[in-house]
Amino acid sequence: DETDKGTYPFYMLKEIDEQPNVMRRLAQVYLSETGAPVVNDALLASMKKADRIYIVGAGTSYHAGLVGKRLFENLTQTPTEVHISSEFAYEQPILSEKPFFIFLSQSGETADSREVLVNVNAAGHESLTITNVQNSTLSREATYTMLLHAGPEIAVASTKAYTAQIALQAILAKALGEADKQIVAQRFDIRQQLGLVATGIQAIVDEKDKIEALVKQSFLKTPNAFYIGRGLDWGVSLEAALKLKEISYVQAEGFASGELKHGTIALIEEGTPVIGIITQSKTAGLTRSNLQETMARGAKIITIVSENLAKDSDDIVLADVDELMTPLISVVPTQLLAYYTSLLKGLDVDRPRNLAKSVTVE
Ligand code: G6P
Repeated sequence: DETDKGTYPFYMLKEIDEQPNVMRRLAQVYLSETGAPVVNDALLASMKKADRIYIVGAGTSYHAGLVGKRLFENLTQTPTEVHISSEFAYEQPILSEKPFFIFLSQSGETADSREVLVNVNAAGHESLTITNVQNSTLSREATYTMLLHAGPEIAVASTKAYTAQIALQAILAKALGEADKQIVAQRFDIRQQLGLVATGIQAIVDEKDKIEALVKQSFLKTPNAFYIGRGLDWGVSLEAALKLKEISYVQAEGFASGELKHGTIALIEEGTPVIGIITQSKTAGLTRSNLQETMARGAKIITIVSENLAKDSDDIVLADVDELMTPLISVVPTQLLAYYTSLLKGLDVDRPRNLAKSVTVE
């Protein structure tokens, strides 16, 4: 039974551990034997006509959209915007001539996102819902649906749905880019990448003890913490901070590392944890200097770094994958940091205060 916790103390840990399998399942469901994406033709035709993609979501799904934007822009050359659904619904940006909408929603029931979809349908635009729940409201009401096949996600803090949303957007972007004869997409070996990602995630979950030790050293007494990075690493920083806030009640911020010095660095005190995510070669050096700046002001630095950019002193080293796919691995240690902080504080990891798994009010 997929909803059985088995020997796990909490669903969240089980769901973190399931991520390598979710990656493999997505490859099985959405790739042919030759590794080519298998995506509904009508959906691809509809997306090919679009001059701009609008990704809409809330919470963790919004954060998955931040990565999706990079994937669509890199692999398809289609300008892509990402929006928080509760903002988009009431402050709608001026739309392009031929917009296409992607709704990201684990549950498919989030009222904020549905409000946008109702408007999109009324305006006669086509849309795709990417969701974990078949026949959910957003799935029924959008033109097309792609399922995440992540299995039920029960912990309130979303983990495997985030990585599944990113992986599925990568598959879709590959399909669309290839249909459009984009060379970058043709060269992007999605099957190989998903295989590398699955192995890379497995290596992190096999090193749980190391992450638990980092939590014991730096996270249990701190009232606040910062995740920093640039580009895709910034996107992951936002998700990492959200995870920590949700279940451990540590005041956490995800920050564009270059922006810290413009104000927020004032908050760094002796022992404040600052976690740097470094997976993008063009900004790795810059984020390292930004980390040094916080260290000079007393911060306790932790680094999460791709192998090809790593130094001996780095704390968590991630298996190398295409730089577009690194969020799928770099987020995993941050999920575990949040998990152990919550667990070791004796909190209810799966059912944090004030939160619901699916929010059906605006
Ligand atoms: C709630 C959950 C979050 C989730 C958000 C969006 O706030 O607590 O974990 O990211 O809703 O949910 P959705 O089902 O639309 O992805």
